[in-house]
Amino acid sequence: MGIIIKSKEQIDGIRKSSKLAAQALIYIEEFVKEGVSTEFLNQKIHDFIIEHGATPATLGYGGYPKSCCISLNEVICHGIPSEDTILKNGDILNIDVTTILDGYYGDTSKMYTVGEVSEDALRLIETTKHCLDLGIQQVRPGNHVGNIGFAIQRYAKVKGYSVVYEFCGHGVGVDFHEDPQVDHAARRNSGPKLQPGMTFTIEPMINQGKARAKVDKQDGWTARTVDNKLSAQFEHTILVTETGYEVLTDVSDEY
Ligand code: MF3
Ligand code: CO
Ligand code: CO
Repeated sequence: MGIIIKSKEQIDGIRKSSKLAAQALIYIEEFVKEGVSTEFLNQKIHDFIIEHGATPATLGYGGYPKSCCISLNEVICHGIPSEDTILKNGDILNIDVTTILDGYYGDTSKMYTVGEVSEDALRLIETTKHCLDLGIQQVRPGNHVGNIGFAIQRYAKVKGYSVVYEFCGHGVGVDFHEDPQVDHAARRNSGPKLQPGMTFTIEPMINQGKARAKVDKQDGWTARTVDNKLSAQFEHTILVTETGYEVLTDVSDEY
């Protein structure tokens, strides 16, 4: 194990795969509307990834059956796309895409809304995005990985939300889940120090109510809030550079 410091060649490959995963999230946007099934969205994403010469990393991963995760409302993460899950007005959902391109992994997710969404839901989504951005701002050589989670947790708490601690960010790039583990709730100056050439995800899951997750006994994957209140998530794949960070899954020049 240990944290892999990526070579220039590996970084170029991870960047390409990351951009493709990010493009898939943009591509799917126009199909997210009332009445469509999450399996329809999964099929669109599957075809998009294949057409671009890549493969979906989740398909067959530990027995996971689909090409992305789609997590609605009270689902925290790992929602399995289904013909029976039909989007309805007011839903919020996360779509999480991981690509393998030329052997390299890129992992990203974002929130979508269906029709008219409550003010409460919008506030949760906005706060979760800001949590991700505060985490990203902690990325620079010499800083402890724990300061990412420390920044996220502090802000979520101020806004009255809780941070999911049972699922974490992770090293990514030459494998799907590498070291280090990136906790979204952590103590200041805890964990290993960041070094140029590390690549990992930050993917905070923020809950309206309790932090706890329960995994569906039937399908073994779907993680829901214990109180059925809403949960939101955003994810980027990040490279530690000599001076700070590069958001490898950014295709909008946001960072
Ligand atoms: N993409 C998810 C992540 O961010 C992992 C999904 S694993 C799966 O780490 F098997 F559930 F698809
Ligand atoms: Co991830
Ligand atoms: Co992901």
